Amino acid sequence: MASPKGVALALLLSLLSSVLASSSSRDPAGLLERAKESELSDWMVGIRRRIHENPELGYEEFKTSEIIRRELDDMGIAYKHPIAVTGVAGFVGTGRPPFVALRADMDALAMQESVEWEHKSKVPGKMHACGHDAHVAMLLGAAKLLQEYRDELQGTVVLLFQPAEERGSGAKKMIEAGAVENVDAIFGFHVTPEFPVGVVASRPGPILAGSGFFEAVISGKGGHGALPQETIDPILAASNVVVSLQHLVSRETDPMDSQVVTVAKFQGGTAFNVIPDSVTLGGTFRSLSNRGFSQLKQRIEEVIVAQASVQRCNATTDFMNKEHPFLPATVNSKDLHEHFQKVAGEMLGSNNVIEKQPVTGGDDFAFFSEAVPRAYYYFLGMKNDSGGPHHPAHSPYFTINEEALSYGAALHASLAVRYLSENRSPSTSNANLHYEL
Ligand SMILES: *[C@@H]1O[C@H](CO)[C@@H](O)[C@H](O)[C@H]1NC(C)=O
Ligand SMILES: *[C@@H]1O[C@H](CO)[C@@H](O)[C@H](O)[C@H]1NC(C)=O
Repeated sequence: MASPKGVALALLLSLLSSVLASSSSRDPAGLLERAKESELSDWMVGIRRRIHENPELGYEEFKTSEIIRRELDDMGIAYKHPIAVTGVAGFVGTGRPPFVALRADMDALAMQESVEWEHKSKVPGKMHACGHDAHVAMLLGAAKLLQEYRDELQGTVVLLFQPAEERGSGAKKMIEAGAVENVDAIFGFHVTPEFPVGVVASRPGPILAGSGFFEAVISGKGGHGALPQETIDPILAASNVVVSLQHLVSRETDPMDSQVVTVAKFQGGTAFNVIPDSVTLGGTFRSLSNRGFSQLKQRIEEVIVAQASVQRCNATTDFMNKEHPFLPATVNSKDLHEHFQKVAGEMLGSNNVIEKQPVTGGDDFAFFSEAVPRAYYYFLGMKNDSGGPHHPAHSPYFTINEEALSYGAALHASLAVRYLSENRSPSTSNANLHYEL
């Protein structure tokens, strides 16, 4: 029989070696290696292609949601469904705080795919042209990695598969259904052909703009094009409205607070010699600050009404907030930026973690960034180095470089694992449980 001292030493050694072994396999580089193994990466590619062939629009992601749930079932991961019609929230870990969430969006776009390949969209007029098929596959990949290390997780990872990002309201509906209750931190990303595979980019503070839409009807009095004196011409009034709207950003906005006003729609008249009764115009406005956004909204309405009245026209403005809720700016937590730089740097090398300018695009991840104490959104490089042209998101020629899938899965998993181990909850009471499964 060994001495008590010997037993203690042996125990300590075996404990130490198991800690060392497990920490090396679940460190960021180890997780990337695991995610690159062909069995796991081929599986993600297969899921992504299946979803790509069957794109579904916002709140209609029934098959996509089913694929997700079947895979979670296979992995033995508990989930809640439905949330926000088709949404799914999976749970990996202790079921106790801290809670860290990872988010993927599921919806496709109403457009025809122009890429000719084996797994082209089988649904006419619908296409995954924004990479959400890949986002789903990567979050499932992360689920698999996390499930492999579930016994070592020091808290709970909430896997959020949300509907209707393109309609701008899926995240909001998920939040209203309690999907991020007691969640301390949330991470989300978007694929981009701007950077090569193995490069990620983000920044602390605003990363995406707040955005909204507007539509105005400028009403005059139609008549014969040869007798303008007998009409009130809405074409001229609307034209001046467009020009005046362009002065908002150039003359009323702090140049350091980036904003955009774009008139993208202008409809009026049907004949060469008939002045119409009215003109409809509309567009979008963006701002990196929420204060700038509400100021812009107010001024757009004032300028449309006042400028139309100069030419004796009446105007009404509709921000269509019900169909297209205003999107707040997405603001990244400074703490999580440091966390991201550390974790992504360990995985990819710090020179592959780039600080990026904000973009005036929007993502409804913004609602999560408002609802959760700390949120972080970044871009995942997937440039195809074949040297061909790069088609941006929402192009009918958009493609995914599937080599990026392992990177997205490993980053998701690493950011969550490390977050939990560094923000371990001191209490084991169940006072702070996530909503009931
Ligand atoms: C504008 O509205 C006023 C008040 O309702 C109305 O009297 C006038 O006829 C309208 N003008 C046009 C051009 O529609
Ligand atoms: C890169 O683009 C080429 C040509 O467009 C294509 O044949 C190839 O499959 C792409 N590679 C990846 C990894 O997507």
